[in-house]
Amino acid sequence: MNYRILGRTGLEVSEIGLGTSHNFMHMASSDPAKCVEIVRECLDCGINFFDTAPIYGESERVLGEALEGSRERIVLATKVWESSASAARASIERSFRRLRTDVIDLLQIHNMAGWREVTPAMQAFQREGRIRHLGVTDRRPENYPELIEAMKTGAYDAIQIPYYLGEVQCREEVLPLAREMDLGVIVMRPFSHLRSGLLGPKGSIARMPELKAHHSGTPGQALLKYLLADERGSSVIPATGRAGRMRENAAASGGGALSPEICARLEALVS
Ligand SMILES: NC(=O)c1ccc[n+]([C@@H]2O[C@H](COP(=O)([O-])OP(=O)(O)OC[C@H]3O[C@@H](n4cnc5c(N)ncnc54)[C@H](OP(=O)(O)O)[C@@H]3O)[C@@H](O)[C@H]2O)c1
Repeated sequence: MNYRILGRTGLEVSEIGLGTSHNFMHMASSDPAKCVEIVRECLDCGINFFDTAPIYGESERVLGEALEGSRERIVLATKVWESSASAARASIERSFRRLRTDVIDLLQIHNMAGWREVTPAMQAFQREGRIRHLGVTDRRPENYPELIEAMKTGAYDAIQIPYYLGEVQCREEVLPLAREMDLGVIVMRPFSHLRSGLLGPKGSIARMPELKAHHSGTPGQALLKYLLADERGSSVIPATGRAGRMRENAAASGGGALSPEICARLEALVS
């Protein structure tokens, strides 16, 4: 596993991290033991960056349980989605309890909800040393002008945005500013094209002859490698509900980068 610096936080994070919404979140209630198994698999593979949120069902609680004993070697990110400072404070206190930690490495405003109101409450935790760094997330490209406004306040050290093969808005509108401000960049939703026929054993990536000559891995690994080729990203955080998947995803780090020509060919598949 290769590691990158999460922008001006200075934290060292694995290039591949674990996201815990959707599949993982449903399993956190129905099959928590499987979630613990997935987290342990991540740790075995050198993954040290974990992202969760209070609205991901029991994810925070299961992650807290699974990471017990490993807290010192991991970078833990969660979120807050509230519209007032008092509700944000209560949510953050719940996150500490559920994650079984005294310190959260990165607290992000989830989809920028109430960012003007809740940021001062988050900064108060930061002054107490209970939160190390603040971030913002947004999954809606139409909201990027407001995201950029928030980034420019200087209050946040990291952003989390959707970036995947074929995505252009984040790449062209947000990442240049993130680089200029030395912000950490967490890449969410790397497999947003699952339904587009790109992935899978018979998908268009698997049938690309020139890729086969340069890449012996899976189509999913090729997509992750494509994202890792952009050095402005700090950690790409796929989610899964399947044991073994994070071993596959972790192996996308290292083992040779995709050439610019292959990246261009992949882009041609979705243009
Ligand atoms: N606003 C926000 O802050 C926000 C919004 C969305 C997401 N996020 C964060 O980003 C993380 C990732 O986003 P996401 O869960 O929406 O989407 P994602 O990671 O792009 O997609 C998850 C899906 O990808 C599949 N998958 C994983 N590895 C694969 C591989 N190697 N090959 C083929 N399929 C693979 C999983 O299926 P299997 O279960 O079969 O592996 C799962 O169905 C979230 O968990 C969350 O932490 C944040």
